[in-house]
Amino acid sequence: MHATSRPITSNQSGPHDDLARRVDRALAHPLRKPVAEHTRTAFAEARAWRDAHPGPLILDAGCGVGLSTRRLAERFADHAVIGVDRSAHRLARDHGALPDNARLVRADLVDFWRLALAAGWRPVRHYLLYPNPYPKSTHLKMRWHGHPVFPTILALGGRLELRSNWRLYVEEFALAVRQASGLTAAAAAYPLADGQPPLTPFEAKYHASGQTLWRLVVELPAAPSCPTLLEI
Ligand SMILES: C[S@@+](CC[C@H](N)C(=O)[O-])C[C@H]1O[C@@H](n2cnc3c(N)ncnc32)[C@H](O)[C@@H]1O
Repeated sequence: MHATSRPITSNQSGPHDDLARRVDRALAHPLRKPVAEHTRTAFAEARAWRDAHPGPLILDAGCGVGLSTRRLAERFADHAVIGVDRSAHRLARDHGALPDNARLVRADLVDFWRLALAAGWRPVRHYLLYPNPYPKSTHLKMRWHGHPVFPTILALGGRLELRSNWRLYVEEFALAVRQASGLTAAAAAYPLADGQPPLTPFEAKYHASGQTLWRLVVELPAAPSCPTLLEI
């Protein structure tokens, strides 16, 4: 595959000056925005599926067309893998039958994550594969580590893996993880081993364009319970 994706350009030359303040604010003020009804319904369906598939849970957050969800389900055949994306258009692309242990859900992650935490879900693995980078400095609050939902992502626990072609996104995420949890996580370039298929279409196109791929992996303790979230 040949591709010509341009590397990310940004008006930021280093971690955002406002990152620490935004993380502090997210920690001090849990997100109270009401959950949209359509995500509540989608979560209820996902929950019913999950109840019927009690293996260890893997979340593929922002799964796009769901290729990674399929590949993870094949790789972790005794796990239950749920891919979540808000784009019906992407989720509708035909990539063949889903394995029995995989499920694709159309939902807004900001609400889905909060419902998952409140329901006691604790994924053993949680993937954030090539999230939208929002590279303009004014868009910090739209990056997952600058968003008020960030503490919820961490509270779900498990092995959290972020991948991006934008090094600064991963570095900022690592700083935010450290600030919020005290855990050290570092951005590292990773190679795609010869013969190993990319996990996602975005990974495939950035790799084919010769870009460096970055990732961060951190093992998070799961929060025991979140009584405040049960009210959302
Ligand atoms: C850059 S694409 C990456 C897709 C896929 N992970 C890949 O690597 O090919 C980011 C995906 O995140 C999804 N997304 C962004 N914000 C979301 C949200 N709040 N809730 C659910 N999905 C979201 C978008 O619809 C899009 O499919």
